[in-house]
Amino acid sequence: MTIKTLLPTSSFAGLTGNPWSAKADKIQSATGLLLGCFLLAHLHFESSILLGKDAFYQVVQILEGGMFSESGHGFPLVTKIFSVFILLVVILHAAVALRRFPAQLGQWRALRRHMNGINHKDSHAWFWQLVTGFILFFLAPVHIFTMITNPEIGPHLSAERVYLDNAWLLYALLLPAVVIHAMIGLYRVAIKWGFTANRTGLRKVIKFMIIYLITIGVLSLVSYLFIGAELTTPVQPYVPN
Ligand code: HEM
Repeated sequence: MTIKTLLPTSSFAGLTGNPWSAKADKIQSATGLLLGCFLLAHLHFESSILLGKDAFYQVVQILEGGMFSESGHGFPLVTKIFSVFILLVVILHAAVALRRFPAQLGQWRALRRHMNGINHKDSHAWFWQLVTGFILFFLAPVHIFTMITNPEIGPHLSAERVYLDNAWLLYALLLPAVVIHAMIGLYRVAIKWGFTANRTGLRKVIKFMIIYLITIGVLSLVSYLFIGAELTTPVQPYVPN
């Protein structure tokens, strides 16, 4: 016999919780999973600059559908449209995540007390996800809006943005915040939905991924800075020989 059959409707609302809450939980996990996978692909595509200008140029042409154009050059419109889609997913993810945010000073104090009182690794991870989520709230839209309004990507055009337009400053803050947030998020989704019960093993994988992704991200940024420093204005898009 279930609780529902034992109790009158009015008395089980507090016990069973709001059905919207379970739905919001699923939306948060699904959008988080999508964004986490996107970030893994994004940082790898983008760090192809480490293999040289030609490699990055080819990656961009493939992603922007260069095979469908007569000139072989991709369409920045593809980047624009995909960026709008990612922005919508980010907004949905943030909207459902907001309900978990400690809203008052008292709630923050209680969280700090709880964190100091227990040495539970997953609670600490959750705290860092909260802090990085807060940072991303401000930084991620700036980057995505730039990709919507100025979707030109390439070895020279990206280096121009990073070096001459000083986007490196944004990326230097965004990179650690988004990598930590996304990797802890993927860990929590995997545990929450029962993909694995091996927390210790998964924590090691996540720590490795955080260091690995930040390393390739920083090296890529440095590459763009070097390329950007050699550019002359007005910057001409890179054309392979
Ligand atoms: C579909 C939307 C997006 C597009 C088209 C895009 C494209 C790019 C490109 C081309 C770069 C290289 C530098 C440049 O050209 O300015 C870059 C860098 C970066 N993007 Fe995105 N991005 C998108 C969404 C995101 C999102 C949602 C995040 C995370 C919140 C993100 C995080 C980063 C980071 C951290 C860097 C710097 C990477 C490094 O340090 O090497 N991007 N992005």
